[in-house]
Amino acid sequence: MTSSLDARVAAVAAAFAERFGYRPTGVWRAPGRVNLIGEHTDYNDGFVLPFALEQSALVAAAPRGDQGVRISSLDLGETHELSLDEIVPGSGGWQAYLAGTLWALREAGHPAGGLDLVLSSDVPVGAGLSSSAAIECAVMAAAVDLFDLDLSRLDRARLCQRAENAYVGAPTGLLDQAASTLCTAGHALFLDCRSFDSRQVPLPLGEAGLEILVLDTHTPHTHVDGEYAARRGACEEAARRIGVPALRDVVDLPAALALLDDELLRRRVRHVVTEDARVLETVQLASDGRLEQIAPLLDASHASMRDDFEITVETVDTAVETARAAGALGARMTGGGFGGCIIALCRQGAGDGVGTAVAEEFARRGFNAPTWFVAHPADGAGRVG
Ligand code: GLA
Repeated sequence: MTSSLDARVAAVAAAFAERFGYRPTGVWRAPGRVNLIGEHTDYNDGFVLPFALEQSALVAAAPRGDQGVRISSLDLGETHELSLDEIVPGSGGWQAYLAGTLWALREAGHPAGGLDLVLSSDVPVGAGLSSSAAIECAVMAAAVDLFDLDLSRLDRARLCQRAENAYVGAPTGLLDQAASTLCTAGHALFLDCRSFDSRQVPLPLGEAGLEILVLDTHTPHTHVDGEYAARRGACEEAARRIGVPALRDVVDLPAALALLDDELLRRRVRHVVTEDARVLETVQLASDGRLEQIAPLLDASHASMRDDFEITVETVDTAVETARAAGALGARMTGGGFGGCIIALCRQGAGDGVGTAVAEEFARRGFNAPTWFVAHPADGAGRVG
């Protein structure tokens, strides 16, 4: 455990004691994630390859023995009180991620009772790093331990996804919650989003003389939810017209494209099908210890998101281009799109210089100042205090 995590665990436990007048039973952590490659493939039954970040949501929690739930945010200084019997989908705000997770557990018949909870997170919000999945998965980890629930890690991720889909109302795939729950330190998670088979793929970046820079463009997200749903709808419509259950089933891309007379749908299909292939190639290269050779795949993924899936924006494209010009071996946007973060594969020690070059270019163009950090693949959800 890093010392800053120790300090955060102590702070969230102390806040619990101060707010509720007794000590929490424990503290649970669940991380944010970056997706190394495999974007908008999850809801097409395809492949993803995320890794967990050190940045995480922490939840100090204790069971109450009744149906009451008190949810408090250390970062926002707000507390909400509710009753498990009254939790229904559709309520908004940060507390929806916590309440939604409890709702999904109970809806699936798991005996989660009332809880007192204090939340604190250092996963940047609105940056495409899965700050919401981190909250859901931290609450899930706490509930599983506190109520002794019999749930595999995959089932936990799927229930958190259900909270996001049915309670919060975002039609997302399994990527974020699977990453937050199933990842292990030093590895990326290769997940087949149809069979749910998964494999830990070693990511020895340091040994390979490499590092991955995560740079937040701080681009305000606008119309993100509608655009995401529109991409998903287009993929489902294309699969219907091609006659396959999901785009993952397209084996002959030119033949599938020939069945579509709509140029927009053709582009959407081309992204998903080629992106699935890039994930498989990346997994192969990483498994063979040829990490540096994934760089062109990152570049190709970005071009595909920009030209075919049309989910990048000017700041993100500028960040990727500038990172490459400043020496990054490969770079791409990560996450759902329309802003957020890029990742850049860099030689070890070069990430900061790449970040600085992007910041200078952003300043020249009058964009918001970016922030960045070098990512270290971390563990998925678990108890930390
Ligand atoms: C968001 C969603 C994920 C996934 C990505 C795009 O992060 O929550 O399910 O679809 O976008 O890859």
